[in-house]
Amino acid sequence: MSGFFITATDTEVGKTIITGGLAGILRQRGWDAGVYKPIQSGHLASNPQGDAARLQHLSGVSDPVTEICSYSVDEPLAPLLALRRAGKNVCLHDLISQYEVLKRKHDVLLVEGAGGLAVPYVEDGLVVDLAVQLSLPLIIVVRPNLGTVNHTLLTIEYARARGLRIAGVISSGLGKTPIGIVEETNPTLITQYGDVPFLGSLPWLGPHPSREKLLHTMETALQIEILEKQI
Ligand SMILES: Nc1ncnc2c1ncn2[C@@H]1O[C@H](COP(=O)(O)OP(=O)(O)O)[C@@H](O)[C@H]1O
Ligand SMILES: [Mg+2]
Repeated sequence: MSGFFITATDTEVGKTIITGGLAGILRQRGWDAGVYKPIQSGHLASNPQGDAARLQHLSGVSDPVTEICSYSVDEPLAPLLALRRAGKNVCLHDLISQYEVLKRKHDVLLVEGAGGLAVPYVEDGLVVDLAVQLSLPLIIVVRPNLGTVNHTLLTIEYARARGLRIAGVISSGLGKTPIGIVEETNPTLITQYGDVPFLGSLPWLGPHPSREKLLHTMETALQIEILEKQI
């Protein structure tokens, strides 16, 4: 079993859409890929608008949402705060236990973090600590526009300082705002200064893109085979 840990430069960048879409594509290509969202805040796992349900739909896995995400809280706060306010005392080993359950069911597991790497996550760690414990290479999802080089390089340096390997960087939402010199040059700058593979830019697909449209666009926009070589 192998897998990837999907993080981002911030929240609302595109982790869920990319994680679900990648799992869906890998499954279409014959891999038994699963998805795991260790902690979800903002929606209960059963809510169709939450990440667990979106990951289930986009990936096409048949695992119940409560297995995809076993710790969910309604309140839209950072995970640690939301869990504490809901009276839940969660530690890294709780998340690793559920990871082991899903790992036994799949050949490749795509794990979606929350926010970015330095988000307070559980009683004994930040998001980065789970990635370290799981020893998974990172996929970093980034915005395509101004400011993203700084955020991406900071994330890369922070990850490397903790011994994490970076499988690749993907940008999401290209074209939501006008594409100019910044959007055109960011991928090269990220590759040059970050020394990481840039796997491609997912175009902006408009509100509520269908699974079919997402998977089709990702197939053409992203270099999936670079990830497949790392499985
Ligand atoms: N390329 C894209 N095209 C269309 N919508 C997108 C795209 N990337 C992200 N979104 C939308 O932006 C919002 C945030 O994306 P999401 O994947 O939930 O981010 P995160 O998991 O990082 O918080 C969602 O509504 C998602 O559908
Ligand atoms: Mg998400």
